[in-house]
Amino acid sequence: MCGIVGYVGHQQATPILIGGLRRLEYRGYDSAGVAVANNGNETRVIRCRGKLAALEALLEQEKPLGTCGIGHTRWATHGRPSDENAHPHKVGSVAVVHNGIIENHVGLRVRLRAAGRTFSSQTDTEIVAHLIDEALLEGAPSFIDAVRKALRQIEGAYALVVLSDLYPDQIIGAKNSSPLVIGLGKNEAFLASDAPAILEHTREVIFLEDGDIVELSRKDVRVSDVDGKPLSRAPRTITWTAAQAEKAGYPHFMLKEIFEQPRAVTDTLRGRLLVDKNDAVLDGLDLGSGIDRVVLIACGTSYHAGLVGKFLIEASARLPCEVDLASEFRYREPVITGRDLVVGISQSGETADTLAALKEAKSRGARTLAICNVVDAAIARAADAALYTHAGPEIGVASTKCFTAQLAALTLLSIHLGRRTGRLSEDAAADFIRELLLIPNKMTVALESMGEISKIAERYKNAKDFLFLGRGTNYPIALEGALKLKEISYIHAEGYAAGEMKHGPIALIDDGIPVVVIAPRGKGYEKVLSNLAEVRARDGHVIAVATVGDKTIAEQCHSVLWIPDAPALLQPLLTVLPLQMLSYCVALARGNDVDQPRNLAKSVTVE
Ligand code: G6P
Repeated sequence: MCGIVGYVGHQQATPILIGGLRRLEYRGYDSAGVAVANNGNETRVIRCRGKLAALEALLEQEKPLGTCGIGHTRWATHGRPSDENAHPHKVGSVAVVHNGIIENHVGLRVRLRAAGRTFSSQTDTEIVAHLIDEALLEGAPSFIDAVRKALRQIEGAYALVVLSDLYPDQIIGAKNSSPLVIGLGKNEAFLASDAPAILEHTREVIFLEDGDIVELSRKDVRVSDVDGKPLSRAPRTITWTAAQAEKAGYPHFMLKEIFEQPRAVTDTLRGRLLVDKNDAVLDGLDLGSGIDRVVLIACGTSYHAGLVGKFLIEASARLPCEVDLASEFRYREPVITGRDLVVGISQSGETADTLAALKEAKSRGARTLAICNVVDAAIARAADAALYTHAGPEIGVASTKCFTAQLAALTLLSIHLGRRTGRLSEDAAADFIRELLLIPNKMTVALESMGEISKIAERYKNAKDFLFLGRGTNYPIALEGALKLKEISYIHAEGYAAGEMKHGPIALIDDGIPVVVIAPRGKGYEKVLSNLAEVRARDGHVIAVATVGDKTIAEQCHSVLWIPDAPALLQPLLTVLPLQMLSYCVALARGNDVDQPRNLAKSVTVE
């Protein structure tokens, strides 16, 4: 994620940058920094690890003067949170702030090192500063030409804001896949990741599009493309309040995060799928040899991701895979050997039970891996290695985008293990990767076709109990759907393996209980249809999650939530979406606090 700001104008830049960063802190908060150009003197960079308050304390001692500057609040993706990895990154005359992921950073670093350049951080961003500095030293005719030359060499997602000692009254921004908005003022201009950062100064904004480069000075704002072709981008007037804008216009962070999922999955896959080699790379990790078994440990929603992970790993790598609740794992003398790969899955990376379980596994000789959304969090540090999800900070207490990002990471792990063990053939990997790459768009389609859910929520908001049924890869999704509903609507809900219904829960069914049946086409579909008929025969109200166009289901249910077709192993990335939305809409209809439900905490650091 990360939040970035830029200012050029007639006022002192530092207070404007800090004010903007304060409103962007929800986008990241593990380090922060500013760079301010000072009328031809060397640009001052002040940055440090920690929340914005730590930077503000530093700025109390020395406030950099100047009317042109850039700022950053970081959510680490490459390189741990530290003073050196904090942005801005300054190389020669060039200071850069960045939000996104430079995919080809490894190759570029090798080339730049060979050209005699040294690096002072582990970030992918520092490479951009080197490339622009290199282009200026090689005689680029202008600042923007140097930036263009650098952009031609990088691949990936970025919002970049750059300044140079050599051009002290200018800032340059560039966007590809990560957001960047221009604020228009009188004799001043602003750049930011998100409108709330600048709304107290101006409501006239331009939302940049992918491929846009903008040159900002006091007098002028010029947008062009990488070849220098001028582009016209119409300004808009923002009517939101700053608080609304932080949530990008959504009423709650949870809803915003639900809609961010296609991006969270894309970013987690970014740079890690080698389409031409039918393989997945895990940030330099080499897993597979010497592993006889995989054990996944986690709590809550992350545990449900683990349950899906078991299907993925067993199918692709043909390795036995067990999934354990972290709070149970270490209290029952688990059998762990040096040939086990134990994976702790955690959004926060701080959950006490998962941390303790991972340490226990390590002490018994296992190789350990953390799948985690927060770089350098305790669980990532405790494990031998970490594979990060790139969902960005999750603010809503009920986890949504981190769940699907964890599924994406587990899918990568399964491909990686399958190729290393040789049990996933090249052809099968190619098919699987092709389908996986279609998922983010399918998620968008699913999210856009959810108009009916608020009506369904209104109808069932006073139900006392809900039952969620699913089979195979969708059994964990039944559990997750029930958990989401419990967490924020406070309605009792149970997730059950559809085939187990006849062994107990069927006794509960009458016309007062809504039953959510996850029944996409594919493996197990016919069997779920039979379970659905059993519910109908007992007057249960059926809400189905089904593959778009499935008329058979539509005839047998009270309501249907549609999702696009996908192979069974990837269906959870889609089937969970309507269930997240259903819980959101029911909670809303009941007037609950969606983002901060009672009794729950985002990070549970006690056992
Ligand atoms: C808490 C949160 C859940 C989360 C669980 C595990 O209970 O409310 O949303 O799934 O902790 O958290 P973790 O950060 O380890 O994924």
